[in-house]
Amino acid sequence: TAAEKDGYDTFMMKEIHQQPSVVADTLRGRIDDNGHITLDEVRLSEQDFRDIDKVFIVACGTSYHAGLVTKYALEHWTRLPCEVELASEFRYRDPVLDRSTLVIAISQSGETMDTLMALRHARTQKARVLSISNTVGSTIPRESDAVLYTRAGIEVSVASTKAFLTQLAACYLVALHIAQMRGVMYADEVADVVASLTAMPDKIQEVLDGSDQITELAAQMATSHRVLFIGRHVGYPVALEGALKLKEIAYIEAEGFAAGELKHGPISLIETGTPVIAMVPSPAGRSLLHDKMISNMQEVKARGARLIAIAEEGDDVTAAHADHTIYVPKSPTLLAPLLTTVPLQRLAVEYAGALGNDIDQPRNLAKSVTVE
Ligand code: G6P
Repeated sequence: TAAEKDGYDTFMMKEIHQQPSVVADTLRGRIDDNGHITLDEVRLSEQDFRDIDKVFIVACGTSYHAGLVTKYALEHWTRLPCEVELASEFRYRDPVLDRSTLVIAISQSGETMDTLMALRHARTQKARVLSISNTVGSTIPRESDAVLYTRAGIEVSVASTKAFLTQLAACYLVALHIAQMRGVMYADEVADVVASLTAMPDKIQEVLDGSDQITELAAQMATSHRVLFIGRHVGYPVALEGALKLKEIAYIEAEGFAAGELKHGPISLIETGTPVIAMVPSPAGRSLLHDKMISNMQEVKARGARLIAIAEEGDDVTAAHADHTIYVPKSPTLLAPLLTTVPLQRLAVEYAGALGNDIDQPRNLAKSVTVE
């Protein structure tokens, strides 16, 4: 009913707008007054975390994309090697696991069969399993050694939005917690990241407040049968997630690529007018990546692409290379996916809406897939 949707046309829009509060909820009580991570609820000891020499993340769909983002943060902060794998592939390829491996299983529902079977395989190999789930008491957390719950509340829309952002928040906490436990980050370094993390909900709200321009943009794009997303670093998994949203609800051939891979194949997909959405890295600090993305944008422009850039406020270079630029607030690079994903979610909703699709119940898809 309309009441349950809080005045929004769809649950998906309602859930997109809940993101500032559910991300704040997921962080609440897990950071102390000194800006340290306090995850006492995660029942793995300091020694357990010290014994780890490798991390695997297993998940499906949107949760897999949260895992891909986490790899960048976890390896940077903890210096542990981390692999991210689709749960449906994991146990069929004889992965190298033992008691010093930490497996992180990410599942909104806690019931996805592919992820559950990957988890069971990990446990038979004696790995420790930490799950990140939105559903208290569901099967995946029950079968894990430890769990950290996201606090997204019930997600009704089949296409996941708020669960994704809370998974990112929870994964950042876990990665910082591991770094803290293993003593690889100084306390004040952790506190710096934590301060940036707790500032994110207000910035997500800013993105939402500024995202009405997307309606118009989507209406112009909705005649295209193909949309490409390109990114580098954490912008790459965000590109994959943006493409997945568009596939799920707009039924468009949407693909995400690492921008550096364009020249190795995907650039041949570009025709005059093909929309390309570029996740532009911050010009600060990682200016090398920023420069590289600008040249990738020039490459696709030269082939006739219609370029939409998602860039950071204060980036005064990008707009000259794009047909349209959407700005998000400044943030540390590793945390930026909490912001840059949001315009892509909105774009998918507007695009599907312009096509007249059922946004909350897309064809052929289920909210939770309990078969392998
Ligand atoms: C289904 C849903 C997706 C979800 C995926 C994994 O395919 O339609 O939105 O990302 O399952 O679900 P999970 O509950 O394990 O996160």
